[in-house]
Amino acid sequence: MTSTSWIAIAAENELAPGQMKRIEAGGKHLLLCNADGKHYVVDEMCSHEDYSLFFGCIQNGRIKCSLHGSYFDLQSGQPETAPADKPICTYPVQIKNGQLWICPS
Ligand code: FES
Repeated sequence: MTSTSWIAIAAENELAPGQMKRIEAGGKHLLLCNADGKHYVVDEMCSHEDYSLFFGCIQNGRIKCSLHGSYFDLQSGQPETAPADKPICTYPVQIKNGQLWICPS
């Protein structure tokens, strides 16, 4: 882990399961998601239309867009249900010294 590529974004225990946090890192608008205790970072905006996934919810390792109802796998970013047909980007997350770190590039 190098300080130039990894950015600390939250305390390890900041989010409860099912919670999300908007973050800005590397010039990108991202979402930190706690899905049943495992953390993921994905693009904030849905790939279908320019709508924030922050207004959706986390269910069974997926995030649901509240505008038209597409689900995206938080690990792969792949859409699982229409109308979205393109993936959202996902970013690696690490835990170190009680902090969550991401590599936004
Ligand atoms: S804007 Fe997300 S599914 Fe349409």
